[in-house]
Amino acid sequence: MELDILKSGSEAVILTLTGVDPNSTIQDVKRKIAFQKRAIYPERQSLRLESRGRSLDDKVVISSLNLNRGRVLYLKDLGPQIGWSTVFLAEYAGPLLAYMISFTRPYWLYGNNADLPMSYVVKIAAACWTLHYSKRIYETIFVHRFSHSTMPIMNLFKNCAYYWGFAFYIGYFVNHPLYTEPFFGKVQVYLGLISFLLNEYGNYSIHVALRDLRPPGSTERKIPMPTKNPFTFLFRYVSCPNYAYEWYSWASFSIMTQTLPAAIFTAVGFYQMAVWALGKHRNYKKEFPNYPKRRTAIVPFLL
Ligand SMILES: NC(=O)c1ccc[n+]([C@@H]2O[C@H](COP(=O)([O-])OP(=O)(O)OC[C@H]3O[C@@H](n4cnc5c(N)ncnc54)[C@H](OP(=O)(O)O)[C@@H]3O)[C@@H](O)[C@H]2O)c1
Repeated sequence: MELDILKSGSEAVILTLTGVDPNSTIQDVKRKIAFQKRAIYPERQSLRLESRGRSLDDKVVISSLNLNRGRVLYLKDLGPQIGWSTVFLAEYAGPLLAYMISFTRPYWLYGNNADLPMSYVVKIAAACWTLHYSKRIYETIFVHRFSHSTMPIMNLFKNCAYYWGFAFYIGYFVNHPLYTEPFFGKVQVYLGLISFLLNEYGNYSIHVALRDLRPPGSTERKIPMPTKNPFTFLFRYVSCPNYAYEWYSWASFSIMTQTLPAAIFTAVGFYQMAVWALGKHRNYKKEFPNYPKRRTAIVPFLL
């Protein structure tokens, strides 16, 4: 059969594929397109049924599609791609380094104050920071099973600027020689620390539960449910407990260090994750008609 490939967002014909086997998949069509348009390799392509519709899964068979408006598919060029793992490693190793620069109290940053003694809170905060980003690197390598092998290269610059920038900003203030300990002293610090550690473990537990939903090598998606691990109970209430635990962690870190930059990072992170969680929640409801009704996106009962 013949298939017209139109540009997403307009009706311009990019190319016409001939001899397409109706039993071939979207992935096969992408390969055929890439054969004629070498710059648009398969990972760069998003094929859709409608001009501004959702991306079709690579495994979808052409004959199973109701090709409306004749034999037409829309192609969106996602731009140059980069491997997910590379992005995550750059995103997460950077903040470790950016935070640790100020932890070493360099003279060029703090002048003569650099010699002042370091509070125990500052050392605990550096340990928490290291734990968090080491955990993320570990998860990227050993836990997550991503469905996409690549992402747009622009995300690398955007995400790195976000994570590296905040790491330096927070590190500068927490590690500052004139840093003052929290108002309620040890009680506040250790309650913040315990809460931080529990929420980090909660976040890790959710990532493991999500990983276990997907057989190795597949891109399958299922409705996540609480497992035997008690930290996964949040699935009963929200669609993205990993994001929930993540912002509880940063709220705990902010309480522990009592610094404004950490609180701003918590607020910005919460906003971003809430936007993503709402999108994922909407998708779950669309994808699974039997999706649990009482779940919200990220804040139990509210949002
Ligand atoms: N501090 C911040 O501002 C901030 C912001 C964003 C993220 N984060 C952290 O980074 C972590 C990872 O973020 P993310 O956005 O990649 O999380 P995510 O979308 O929830 O995904 C985590 C992993 O689980 C898979 N997954 C999700 N739902 C699934 C389902 N129903 N069935 C099977 N597999 C499923 C995902 O696969 P796919 O590849 O198919 O999506 C991905 O590999 C977060 O949990 C959070 O801790 C922090």
